[in-house]
Amino acid sequence: MIIAIDGPAGAGKSTISKLLAEKLGFLYVDTGAMYRALTLKVIRLKADFKDIEKLIEISTSTEIRLKKGESRSTIVLLDGEDVTIPIRKPEVTNAVFRVAAIYPIRSRMVKFQREYANNDSIVMEGRDIGTVVFPQARKKFYLDAKTLVRAKRRKLELEKKGIEINIEDIVEQIEARDMRDKTRDCGPLKQAEDAVYIDTSLMNIQEVVSCLLSHIKHEK
Ligand code: DC
Repeated sequence: MIIAIDGPAGAGKSTISKLLAEKLGFLYVDTGAMYRALTLKVIRLKADFKDIEKLIEISTSTEIRLKKGESRSTIVLLDGEDVTIPIRKPEVTNAVFRVAAIYPIRSRMVKFQREYANNDSIVMEGRDIGTVVFPQARKKFYLDAKTLVRAKRRKLELEKKGIEINIEDIVEQIEARDMRDKTRDCGPLKQAEDAVYIDTSLMNIQEVVSCLLSHIKHEK
């Protein structure tokens, strides 16, 4: 069984997808981590993000794998190296949209992503899972939340890491990211027609997970 979870950054996708996968005993697949890993490699190679041919060339000689870690964690392997922590650095977050907008790169990622469903039941989260990667997914969800709520969540996350940014700057960053994710030509962030839309603004994590579980059980 495939469960597809899409939505913008800060809607709670990762936390909720991980918990849901754990409750169902399914494999959790974070597709954003794959685009982030490739972006990290481009940064390390000091390649020019505007050189599309170079980026495609790098992607074809790169192996990105996700492996289950301890507890609910996922280990991200870039050419065999554990890059779980560095892929969350702000320089990666700020540049990943460039890599994610290139069609041949997305095609390659989608191919890898589909392989995860060959042997397991999965919960896969991203931007185009219900529309492009698995349009046939048994259950699709689109998680959303108001921009200010997403910004506050992000601020808390950053504060935990000792980073202070004012809320206005975070709102600006989120709006810019949404715009880029929603308007790119290939694999844009979009709700699939048959996805269940859930606004998580006023819900806590447990409430969202219970809501998803009730939709899934209802379906069985
Ligand atoms: O979910 P995230 O913030 O880790 O995603 C990182 C970036 O990758 C983000 O800019 C959107 C992009 N992405 C994408 O284009 N398609 C996906 N399936 C997942 C993420």
